[in-house]
Amino acid sequence: MPTRPYVIDEMISAKAIAARIEDLCREIQKEYDGTDKLVVVGLLRGSFVFIADLVRELDLPIEVDFLEASSYGDVMESSREVRILKDLRGAIEGRDVLVVEDIVDTGHTLNHVTHLLESRHPARLKSIALLDKPSRREVDFKASWTGFEIPDEFVVGYGIDYAQRNRNLPYIGKVRFLEG
Ligand code: PRP
Repeated sequence: MPTRPYVIDEMISAKAIAARIEDLCREIQKEYDGTDKLVVVGLLRGSFVFIADLVRELDLPIEVDFLEASSYGDVMESSREVRILKDLRGAIEGRDVLVVEDIVDTGHTLNHVTHLLESRHPARLKSIALLDKPSRREVDFKASWTGFEIPDEFVVGYGIDYAQRNRNLPYIGKVRFLEG
C-alpha cells in the first residue's frame, strides 16, 4: 500500500507511446529481417504492458518468454541486488533474443539479466526499454533501443508501479506527493 498521499500527472500519453512503439517496431523489423528464431523476453513484472503492445506491432515470427527479476521489492530505492524470481521456460542457445524492459534506472537489472543470458550463448542478444533515466545510472548500460529518455522523476503506469499500484494506467504518469 502506498504510504503517502499523491496525485499522478500525465507525462507521456497513451497516444505518444503507441506512436513511438510503431517507430521502434519498424527498426526492430529491419534488424531481424529474415530470422525465424527470435525470442522476445519480457522482464516481469514491469514490462507486461509494453511487451503486449510491442509484439502485436511486430510482423515477425517470434516466440515469447518471460523472466522475473526484482531489485526493488515494494520500496522506491533500489537494493542494488538483482534476484531472479522466475527463469525462462525455454533454452536460448543459438537463438536471437530481444529482452523487453519497462525502465532502465540504475541499470543493475538489465545489466545483470544481460550477463546471465549471454552466458547461455544466444546468437544475438539485444534489449529494448520503453523508458531510460540516464541521470540515475550506476552501471554502464545502454539498451539497444529506447522509447523515451526521461528526467529523474518518479513515474508510474503502463506497467510501472508505486507499491504495486498504478500498473494499469494506460499512460506514463509522474507521481506528485501531497504535503501534510
Ligand atoms: C523495476 C523496473 C525495472 C528495474 C529498473 O523493477 O521494472 O525492471 O526496476 O531499475 P534498475 O535499472 O535500477 O535496475 P522492479 O524490481 O521494481 O520489479 P517489477 O518489474 O516487478 O516492478
